[in-house]
Amino acid sequence: MPRFVHLSDLHFGAHDDRIVSAVEQEITKAAPDLVIVSGDFTQRAKTEQFQEACRFLERVREAGHEVIGVPGNHDVPLYDVLRRFMSPLTRYRRYIDETLCPYHQLEGAAVLGINTARSLTVKDGRINREQIDFIRETFSRVPEGTVRVLVTHHPLFALPVSDGGELGEAIGRQELALDAVNELGVDLLLAGHNHRASTHHARDLVTRAGGALVVQAGTATSVRLREEEQSFNILDVEKEVVSVSLMKWAGEAFEAAVPTQFRKTEEGWRQSSQAQADAAAPA
Ligand SMILES: [Fe+2]
Ligand SMILES: [Fe+2]
Repeated sequence: MPRFVHLSDLHFGAHDDRIVSAVEQEITKAAPDLVIVSGDFTQRAKTEQFQEACRFLERVREAGHEVIGVPGNHDVPLYDVLRRFMSPLTRYRRYIDETLCPYHQLEGAAVLGINTARSLTVKDGRINREQIDFIRETFSRVPEGTVRVLVTHHPLFALPVSDGGELGEAIGRQELALDAVNELGVDLLLAGHNHRASTHHARDLVTRAGGALVVQAGTATSVRLREEEQSFNILDVEKEVVSVSLMKWAGEAFEAAVPTQFRKTEEGWRQSSQAQADAAAPA
């Protein structure tokens, strides 16, 4: 059963060193098969911030863990206009990863990352037709029964960004992306960007979105918070059952919340208690 540690929005340059160390310790404790970072490695895409992020990744890899990641909007330079448009992800490619669409196949699960950060849209994310073709191509080759996991920085959906219920932006070309996700039977959509941890059923957010489970990670290590403390997720993934454990920063250490379990039903992933109630209900 593959185990993932899902981190997001590390924001090196606006990070808390103590929390970075605690994250590293928790990764070692969790002993995941893969660490997934869903973007915003840096605060302002500066060389020294990428170097710090790079050293963090080196330490995680030296401790024996595989890592994959995708860039976030903060990994594209904001003020250096020439670099922003001419070579927006050069530093990311130098210090984090040469590929912007990493793929990792494990026993029972396939994980694909797609870059949604763009130079033209300062904050919002986009996905393009070539990327959707690439998602189709990649997942269509994956053996039946494999859990398909798609990782982006920007969530595909408009999700709450504050306690008041204000919604963020859905990804550009959302319908195209959701058609592909639905047709390919993508199981898990992992993202960040909002600095708020949550899980949702795709079909509750948008009609025709299919049965995917949407898992948002908060910011793991940034000091810039949006009405919520730092956190990350630990996911245990099986063909029919996914368990999501939220790890919340409690001032001195991370504390684990009670894991939420989801079971695959004909309508997609359902929280276990709900799935059992549906199965017991008379037809
Ligand atoms: Fe962020
Ligand atoms: Fe972001």
